[in-house]
Amino acid sequence: MTSFVCNDAIMDETLDETLDEAMREWLRGLPKAELHLHIEGTLEPELMFKLAQRNGVELPFANVEEAHQAYVFDDLQSFLDIYYAGCSVLVTEADFADLTQEYLTRAAADGVLHTEIFFDPQTHTDRGISFGTVVAGITRGLEEGEREFGISSRLIMCFLRHLDADAAMATLEEALEFRGVITAVGLDSGESGNPPEKFEAVFDRARAAGFLTVAHAGEEGPPDYIRQAIDMLGASRIDHGVRVMEDPELVDRLVAEQVPCTVCPLSNVKLRVFPSLGEHPLRAMLQSGLRVSINSDDPAYFGGYIAENYIQTAQALAMTTEEMRAVARNSVLSSFLDAHARHELLAAVDAYPGMQ
Ligand code: ADE
Ligand code: ZN
Repeated sequence: MTSFVCNDAIMDETLDETLDEAMREWLRGLPKAELHLHIEGTLEPELMFKLAQRNGVELPFANVEEAHQAYVFDDLQSFLDIYYAGCSVLVTEADFADLTQEYLTRAAADGVLHTEIFFDPQTHTDRGISFGTVVAGITRGLEEGEREFGISSRLIMCFLRHLDADAAMATLEEALEFRGVITAVGLDSGESGNPPEKFEAVFDRARAAGFLTVAHAGEEGPPDYIRQAIDMLGASRIDHGVRVMEDPELVDRLVAEQVPCTVCPLSNVKLRVFPSLGEHPLRAMLQSGLRVSINSDDPAYFGGYIAENYIQTAQALAMTTEEMRAVARNSVLSSFLDAHARHELLAAVDAYPGMQ
């Protein structure tokens, strides 16, 4: 079994580089699903400037270079401040379609066969952009991506948890007419001080209306927020969930119930949830029997799309090819695909040849 770690003492530099490149290509080609991706977090500075010009919006950065330099964060909130500012360039249906297409082009190159993307309607409706414009643009991008790359998708709308529950309820009412295109509702934004219980009634109503439910929990917030997300919001998937490792009893429960955790390693390091990738619990989570997948969260801000997350995590934690294949299998098993499509994707993951 190949392990993604290089031992400088026994390998000369050329062999090292060849192996490194082979490993990168193997992980890039590994068929996978992406389940934790904020479409607004794929806004690359180049597109941000192009859209700013197109829509006459002023940005807090002088140029692309300056934007890249600003992407150093102390915590989740310091990131969110910049992320919401960037969203101001997204105005028309075409902007949302372009954003989505750019993401899918990158996802296709990274071996993604299926993606379930988040969007934050309140970030846009609060600026006067209609719910319909946002959904139409993203949907157009997803449809074109499916035609061009064969990537299937689901759409998940997130409530901003730093806003109140009444605002979330009003947003849910607006979403009802889009029930056919929005599969699930989720919960994101600043976690500390905004526990899942604040949104219990909203999620009750969402489930009654036929939406599936997921929630960010245990990213910066305590393990108890994970418990609340499952028990009070009926979340069938936990986004992040990394702080579960502080609560062995909760680990046992998530393992027993096979509750998926959509983990985003580069995000966790960029937002200082963990000091380095080498100290990330992804491998320990997998070895505990948790259903963990690897995802990119907000790749334009965190230094890598999904394949880069696979590559850097595998290297930092010296993971084996079969562990990485297990992560890819988990991504499919955790998806909202129907049984038939899931079976087909799992077969693709299993049939992917081992690393030579
Ligand atoms: N919105 C975009 N990225 C997020 C994250 N990592 N956590 C919470 N809310 C988010
Ligand atoms: Zn997220």
